[in-house]
Amino acid sequence: MKLLSLVTGLLAAHAVAATPRVVIPSLEEAAKQIQDRQAKRQSNVITTGAGGSGIYPRLEVRQMFFNKPNQWTLLILAMQQFQAQDQNSATSYHQIAGIHGVPRANYNGVGQCGTCGDADGYCTHDSVLFPGWHRAYMALFEQQFLSVVQQVAGQFPAWQQPAMFGAASTMRFPFWDWAAAPRPGYPTLPNIVSQKYVTVNGPSGSQTIINPLFRHDFADPSGMYYSPFVDWHVTLRYPGSNAWDASSQESQAISAFDNIRTSMQDQVYQLFSTCSDYLHFSNDDAGSSSTSCSNSLEGIHNTIHTTGGGPGSATVSGGHMTYLATAAFDPMFWLHHCNVDRIFAMWQSQHPNSYGGSQPAPHDTWTIAQGTNQDENSPLTPFYKDGNGNFWTTNQVKDWTVFQYTYPEFADSDGSQGAIASFINKLYGPSATATAGSSKRTAAPEPRNEWRARNTAAPASYNAPRQSSPLVAANGSLFQYVANIKTPRYALNGSYQIYLFNGSPSSEEPTTWIHDEKLIGPMGVLSQANKTDHDLTAAGSIPLTRTLTSVVRQGLLTALTEALVVPYLKSNLMWRVAGPNGTEVDSATIPGFEVAVFASTAQPPSSQYDLPKWSEFIPLVDITVDKAGGANTIANATAT
Ligand SMILES: *[C@@H]1O[C@H](CO)[C@@H](O)[C@H](O)[C@H]1NC(C)=O
Ligand SMILES: *[C@@H]1O[C@H](CO)[C@@H](O)[C@H](O)[C@H]1NC(C)=O
Ligand SMILES: *[C@@H]1O[C@H](CO)[C@@H](O)[C@H](O)[C@H]1NC(C)=O
Ligand SMILES: *[C@@H]1O[C@H](CO)[C@@H](O)[C@H](O)[C@H]1NC(C)=O
Ligand SMILES: *[C@@H]1O[C@H](CO)[C@@H](O)[C@H](O)[C@H]1NC(C)=O
Repeated sequence: MKLLSLVTGLLAAHAVAATPRVVIPSLEEAAKQIQDRQAKRQSNVITTGAGGSGIYPRLEVRQMFFNKPNQWTLLILAMQQFQAQDQNSATSYHQIAGIHGVPRANYNGVGQCGTCGDADGYCTHDSVLFPGWHRAYMALFEQQFLSVVQQVAGQFPAWQQPAMFGAASTMRFPFWDWAAAPRPGYPTLPNIVSQKYVTVNGPSGSQTIINPLFRHDFADPSGMYYSPFVDWHVTLRYPGSNAWDASSQESQAISAFDNIRTSMQDQVYQLFSTCSDYLHFSNDDAGSSSTSCSNSLEGIHNTIHTTGGGPGSATVSGGHMTYLATAAFDPMFWLHHCNVDRIFAMWQSQHPNSYGGSQPAPHDTWTIAQGTNQDENSPLTPFYKDGNGNFWTTNQVKDWTVFQYTYPEFADSDGSQGAIASFINKLYGPSATATAGSSKRTAAPEPRNEWRARNTAAPASYNAPRQSSPLVAANGSLFQYVANIKTPRYALNGSYQIYLFNGSPSSEEPTTWIHDEKLIGPMGVLSQANKTDHDLTAAGSIPLTRTLTSVVRQGLLTALTEALVVPYLKSNLMWRVAGPNGTEVDSATIPGFEVAVFASTAQPPSSQYDLPKWSEFIPLVDITVDKAGGANTIANATAT
């Protein structure tokens, strides 16, 4: 009787919710779903992080592969076993991934807010809670991952166990640095993440398995809520079709990440150098009210999501990474978010006096009603800090070593502002020479750097006019140009992409744009279908200086002065918007969409232990005034 009424309730719930495809469960399925939800409700998982007695670095995934063979083996086998755990177990990969978005269910017994009926999950986006929430989330994931690592180590024959337990004891989950250059000849998306099969030396010798960093296999995808995700039995990148047996077109992901990498490098460097307040740094909603901080950690992170899952086309959906509701099931999510957290930690080191901020929630999450004020003391639900019902807060995760991990840049140095700035310059600066994962000071060659080259030429004073370089202003600062973009995040009924080009793209087919050689940079906009109550402006910023520098090197511009750059960009800067269904959207038809170009100059750092200082951002509306979706007055360019 009780079961029947619950089933009726469940069916009613299905009828009200705007599901893409009304999946009416059989009685048995419904009863099982109820049991599952109850099991979830009763769980009380406390987020402690890695645990153990030491603080160890999360390594770059290629660094782990090349230098730590036993940890690499443990990573692969543990990810495989973690992903194979019962979907109903509260500490399984499936349920931890499900915290972020769908399935629409409680985790840890942390119930949905009364007015949060349209939310997919707990993740906080467009929110000042974005960095802290995802830090706690990564810590919970890592803690459960490491418990599986221990089990895997115990599966090895006795003679191998000392080595495997030894490797396990210092192991943390790896990150993927999608912004720093890969080793020459290698792709940005590592082969070890993009290849379908992987071979490791397991407990009974060499074994080849489906790569658990390439995809996650669902025991049952029916909780994915959105079509075609309810049909797909594996996570997909650039899916070939919407059919249940679709496969990833991984070569598209590989090509896309290679083509956007330098823009991501420049975006990360600009974020470290120009964005010094936490609120604007933290999320893409705040950015629309700042010129120097138009980009954000979240904004940069969004582009990796849309590029990872792919943009979709008129007939095929984007993959799991493209949608917040489903992203966390793709193992790429964890490698990516580990890097997002690392950038957060490195940014903290550069801006030690800015942490926290407050902002009303622009839309619901599972537990946070739209309009609720959020700040550094807000509970990061559903991550319990202890057994007394307290949740972690942004303030409490400020020192990430509370979760017993760190990053190589901190482990390999004194962790000071200067030391981390040096890594930032070597990995992401305008003439970075270090490759992803080469974080040891000894491993990173000295920068052969635009800054240094000039400093040696005229070290005495930056104010003295020097031997002229086309890239340098009279006072020795480097010319900088950026395009700031504002766009209504939820206006196109799904995730979409904005692309900036130097000249017209070679094809007007939107799926080719991310691969186009004229691409300056992308901005991914994460959204979801049917979120019509969501109304907010996402901001981003795409640096133009690298492209303009190459134009100078090609002899098409003689210098980067405004007098020359304005007419050049006026005729060559182009943009396109690829809508959620892969068709082009005219940016003039998107209310509030705007591209505005700004000039600044970057005063070279006095040493490698410092970051450049940017001057004021000057709007250059002449470049965009005649273009659809372009800023047309100074007030319009700087409007908040
Ligand atoms: C969106 O809403 C439409 C109309 O209400 C509905 O048919 C569709 O299934 C919904 N799609 C999703 C993905 O929620
Ligand atoms: C594609 O999406 C755009 C933006 O949401 C919409 O205007 C257009 O009608 C859609 N086209 C098709 C064929 O679904
Ligand atoms: C939004 O997209 C969903 C599918 O993704 C579709 O069912 C719905 O009709 C769309 N809504 C509008 C207003 O186009
Ligand atoms: C600036 O003007 C452009 C073109 O008219 C328009 O698309 C955009 O929405 C305006 N931006 C703001 C912030 O008002
Ligand atoms: C250098 O000159 C540019 C103008 O060319 C100016 O905008 C910038 O503020 C100056 N920087 C310094 C550090 O004086």
